[in-house]
Amino acid sequence: MQKYFIKTWGCQMNVLDGDKITSLLENLGYEKTENMEDANIILLNTCSVREGPENKVFSELMRLKYLKEKNLEILGVVGCVAQQEKEEIFKKVPFVDLVMGPRSIMQLPSLLNQAKEQKAIETSFREDTLQFPQEILKRSHPTKASITIMEGCNKRCTYCVVPETRGKEVYRPFDSIVEEVKICIDKGYKEIELLGQNVNCYRDIKKRKDFCDLLDEVSTIDGVKRLRFITSHPRHFPIEAAKLIFERENICKFLHLPMQAGSSRILKLMKRQYDREFYLNLIDKIKEIVKDIALSSDFIVGFPTESEAEFEETLECIKKIKFDTIFSFIYSPRPKTEASKLKPVEKEIAKARLSRLLEEQNKIQIERFSRYSGKEIEVLLEGKSKKGEQYMGRSDDNKVVNFTSSRELKVNNFYKVKITESFLHSLKGEEVF
Ligand code: SAH
Ligand code: SF4
Ligand code: F3S
Repeated sequence: MQKYFIKTWGCQMNVLDGDKITSLLENLGYEKTENMEDANIILLNTCSVREGPENKVFSELMRLKYLKEKNLEILGVVGCVAQQEKEEIFKKVPFVDLVMGPRSIMQLPSLLNQAKEQKAIETSFREDTLQFPQEILKRSHPTKASITIMEGCNKRCTYCVVPETRGKEVYRPFDSIVEEVKICIDKGYKEIELLGQNVNCYRDIKKRKDFCDLLDEVSTIDGVKRLRFITSHPRHFPIEAAKLIFERENICKFLHLPMQAGSSRILKLMKRQYDREFYLNLIDKIKEIVKDIALSSDFIVGFPTESEAEFEETLECIKKIKFDTIFSFIYSPRPKTEASKLKPVEKEIAKARLSRLLEEQNKIQIERFSRYSGKEIEVLLEGKSKKGEQYMGRSDDNKVVNFTSSRELKVNNFYKVKITESFLHSLKGEEVF
């Protein structure tokens, strides 16, 4: 039997694309292998949001050359680096056989056929990935069913490659999303995650439905015990969504709302379409409605021309808002983006700012996580723990909980856990029943 190996980098969208690709391959009769040396097909499902991960792809490709003299028939680059670099990939790495962008996934079977004879490439923006055939979709996550509600991004943040790699926004029909949720529930999933680069802009024009209508509808489907969505955009996050988070028990009390920077001048240079005051106000309103919401965010430090004082505005914001978690990155210049033409901040300065941001956030985070000590919370069991405890699962607000129990527990069930200790990135506890 022919075997495939796939490696995925990047965001949840790319992880779901990885599942879709895997499902297509298995439907064609290929079998998965974890060992590259055994594989007849190797696909690298790539991310180009920063330079680091992109460079890794090329060094990985160079390393794989020797396999072409063994079993390896087709070496493919898929995902966002494929979309960004297109034919250039064949020039840079001549032994690559296939290049496929993230919006061309449904073309995989025909591209594989073609790649057996000659180099195969497809980087057009199509809409058929929105309607992936449910009968063949196999999800890799043990408990969470991620569902694409839109693809692409119409924003033009000056640092970002995503609009280039994922194309213009397209939205999936409302009824087809609802149908997929129901199929997932029938398959036994209790947790649903609505996915898109900019979910708040979701709309179904024909049915006159928007993002809040979708949250409303999905949260009332029988069997949806947990509902999440990602990613929101501060400019478009509707306050009605906060009301729904508060009202509906099954909508998780968690919100990822990337702020990117605390300085209004930098936000303007980033073309984020909001300023510091707008973001802080929005957070105040959200906290007023959902008092105990867990907030999460993304930050970029060392954006071109960022001054020390402007960086400190970012520090002030995280101290004021007290996010439960943040993802912070050193600005990375990307090809064809507006910001890459601006004067960069020195690497050493940017690195030092990242450490200061993390140091500050760590203090806040330890404090935020400690609020759970002694409390009993509901955990959806995902599997065995990597640490000493037996089990690992997640709370409603997305925290990793490692815990013990005196009985045998089952993945994908909810358990009540008493938290005995809190750490920087996780909680520890024991099951109570
Ligand atoms: N659609 C989402 C996230 C897209 S990419 C949003 O609008 O927020 C995920 C994160 O990567 C971004 O939030 C940003 O913080 C970071 N990022 C994107 N481009 C980057 C770049 N050129 N350098 C550093 N970080 C970047
Ligand atoms: Fe990139 Fe901005 Fe779109 Fe997010 S909203 S994907 S950061 S362009
Ligand atoms: Fe990376 Fe593409 Fe996602 S660039 S973050 S994999 S949309």
